[in-house]
Amino acid sequence: MMLSESEIKKHLSCPEDFIALHLLESTSSTNDYFKNKPKINKVEFCFTEEQTNGRGRLGRTWYSPASTNIMMSCRWILPVNVNNLNGLSSCISLALVDALKKLNINISELRCKWPNDLYYQDKKLAGILIELYTENGKISEAIIGIGLNVNMDSSPLIEKPWTSLQNISGFSQDRNYIAALLINSLYRYLQRFAEKGFLDFQQEWQLYDYLKGKAVTVSIGQKIISGMACGVDLSGHLLVETDFGKIIACFSGEASLIDYG
Ligand code: BTN
Repeated sequence: MMLSESEIKKHLSCPEDFIALHLLESTSSTNDYFKNKPKINKVEFCFTEEQTNGRGRLGRTWYSPASTNIMMSCRWILPVNVNNLNGLSSCISLALVDALKKLNINISELRCKWPNDLYYQDKKLAGILIELYTENGKISEAIIGIGLNVNMDSSPLIEKPWTSLQNISGFSQDRNYIAALLINSLYRYLQRFAEKGFLDFQQEWQLYDYLKGKAVTVSIGQKIISGMACGVDLSGHLLVETDFGKIIACFSGEASLIDYG
């Protein structure tokens, strides 16, 4: 079934006056959709059936067949400096987990991989691409792009291990219902983040931390840090204990598991 505003609205629990919904058949990237669009005083959600230039983190391509998965972006404007948005991406992964917990499927093995991927049994289920803009340093615009594999059952174009909600549950899933669950959770988590910052989520993160206790390398630009992942701090930075017992807080970067096999 195609995404439909009336179907999505049937399941919304957040105040409808405070959100705006945009449903598209095709666009280059839902993150780009907001670029030249005048800002409004609502949290905006854009969903598309197809992306012609879907983008992932670190300049990668995000591939998704049309009308199969969820490709969406949320535009959130808030009165803080972009430098105060530490941990936002990890908060968004937790919002995704919160949404998926409401589905009637067993997702007990769902994990968040710092900073913001969702994994199920070592396979990627969802990715998040956040782009931040600022006006005069006081107002921030966060474009939060989410790609969630819902009903994809094969894809020759994705190299790394991936899974989908259909693979996990054995059944095709209702994208309209999932879209509404995402909106509900994102809305609540963003309000909470605006009020309290990442520190309110640190404990929740520990329940789903994919990297904790694992040997990792973290690439931060040209720099590479290796050691044991040992959770995140109150700002959402990944803590890595090096072989010399020193704990390094990683602000951003790409974490990979070290394969001793
Ligand atoms: C990643 O894992 O590298 C992040 C992937 C983010 C993909 C989503 S799909 C909707 C939105 N539009 C894009 O072009 N990218 C994000």
